[in-house]
Amino acid sequence: MAAEPPAPEPVVAGMLPVVVTPTQVAPAQVAPAPVAPAPVRASKGTVVLAIGLPGSGKSSWFKRHNIHPLSSDLLRELLFDDAQEQRFQDLVFSNLRSMLKARLIARRPMNYVDATNLTSHDRHSWIKLAKDYGYDVQGLFFDVPVEICMERHQRRGRVVAEDVMRKMAGKLKPPAFEEGFSKITVVRVKQKEATG
Ligand SMILES: Nc1ncnc2c1ncn2[C@@H]1O[C@H](COP(=O)(O)OP(=O)(O)OP(=O)(O)O)[C@@H](O)[C@H]1O
Ligand SMILES: [Mg+2]
Repeated sequence: MAAEPPAPEPVVAGMLPVVVTPTQVAPAQVAPAPVAPAPVRASKGTVVLAIGLPGSGKSSWFKRHNIHPLSSDLLRELLFDDAQEQRFQDLVFSNLRSMLKARLIARRPMNYVDATNLTSHDRHSWIKLAKDYGYDVQGLFFDVPVEICMERHQRRGRVVAEDVMRKMAGKLKPPAFEEGFSKITVVRVKQKEATG
């Protein structure tokens, strides 16, 4: 890992970032009954989870920001000499989780996970791990239409079958604050690329 980069507050060339805050999404309807304030525990740092289809630009975004994330592709490369090996998912993710855990034990302040993280189920174990270690969790959601992701695959000569991509797009569930995120940043394509 390189020296710790800043938290992602992106102004991204070619992409439109939007930061969503909990208050924008869930305004309180009824004033809550007064309760004793919970003791505030200072966060030890932040875990940023990327969320997005293959080809949505996750790894490019990290590269552009000079961030070296923990990445499932990097693990596949290290374990199997092949970033595209799609077998042994349990091995990949158990090792990836151990690596994040090691960083949290070592109290690294900024931690990034580059994986598709399509469903709240996929994200849950990351969020739980981060919170168990007293870390804040942020979502970095690449909200890119599946057609654009497939076009990009074609351009880079990486074959991801259309039916696989459509199935993944069907599974993709945008991140929600209820899952435990303190901040969600949405990265979208510029109009120009979206319209071709
Ligand atoms: N903002 C962008 N505009 C145009 N092309 C982009 C943009 N971001 C990424 N790409 C291109 O899209 C392709 C996929 O990008 P990238 O590898 O970052 O996706 P990914 O989300 O990491 O995919 P995977 O989950 O398969 O690793 C690359 O060829 C990259 O150059
Ligand atoms: Mg990638």
